[in-house]
Amino acid sequence: MDHYAVFGNPIAHSKSPQIHRWFAEQTGQQLDYQALLAPVDDFEGSARQFFDQGGLGANVTVPFKLDALVFCDQLSPRARRAGAVNTLQKGKNNEIYGDNTDGVGLVRDLTGQLGFNLHNKRVLLLGAGGASRGVVEPLLKAGVAKLKIANRTPEKAQQLVQIFHGLQPDAELSAGNWASLAGSQYDLILNATSASLSGDLPPLPDGLLAPGALAYDLMYARQPTPFMEWAIQQGATTVADGLGMLVEQAAEAFFLWRQVRPDTAPVLLRLRQQLQE
Ligand code: ATR
Repeated sequence: MDHYAVFGNPIAHSKSPQIHRWFAEQTGQQLDYQALLAPVDDFEGSARQFFDQGGLGANVTVPFKLDALVFCDQLSPRARRAGAVNTLQKGKNNEIYGDNTDGVGLVRDLTGQLGFNLHNKRVLLLGAGGASRGVVEPLLKAGVAKLKIANRTPEKAQQLVQIFHGLQPDAELSAGNWASLAGSQYDLILNATSASLSGDLPPLPDGLLAPGALAYDLMYARQPTPFMEWAIQQGATTVADGLGMLVEQAAEAFFLWRQVRPDTAPVLLRLRQQLQE
């Protein structure tokens, strides 16, 4: 049997084992996938043991995406720019290759499941932490006209602009604080702050959503997040959470490992039903 796993802390409630088991069932792949709890101060030890014992690939979640970057022998360019690794794969000579499928997972959810064409769109990204850094590159590459990164600490948003400027010179990439948003409009607003975790919402001005706009929270929960509720009140045409992104980033990892692309729609549907139960 081929062994895969997800590392995190905590990890008990991870949906990744379920998602990958459904993918395996659907595509007829023989593999097992477990959730593994690593100690917060020893990701390396846990990951090393897993690969030494024959593990072929792993996903990495909070709080180990930076540790995973350091652990890898080789990195994809997008993982290096994202500054984080969420997917590990063992190579022929036992070297560990690191990739980041979070950003492409988000873009696939937006363009596939949600049918939102990113080309020429004005996009606002809220937050400038690890989650934001992981999604900037694929958004730029999808051909957005404008990407504004707004953050409570604007210097951190400015740092992201410095990392990614030049990647897609046609796109207008800028940074600012919440107040700098007044008077502007966006076709897509992405919440990548962790404010929802504490039931908080950044103090956003009214009128940010252009007609027909989509509001997307990278987090998901049984109930709509405070950001999603704000977007509904502000008249967003479509409001979505990050469950689709979770499934799509998993599908990208599965494809990397197995060279088979699972059908994500039925898996997302089953997961959504499970979440609501
Ligand atoms: P992640 O990896 O989930 O992005 P992170 O790197 O800790 O986590 O980043 C958290 C992001 O949420 C940051 O942009 C943070 O803003 P600061 O850079 O100013 O700290 C933002 N954030 C967290 N709590 C917030 C809150 N209550 N209101 C607004 N922004 C918040």
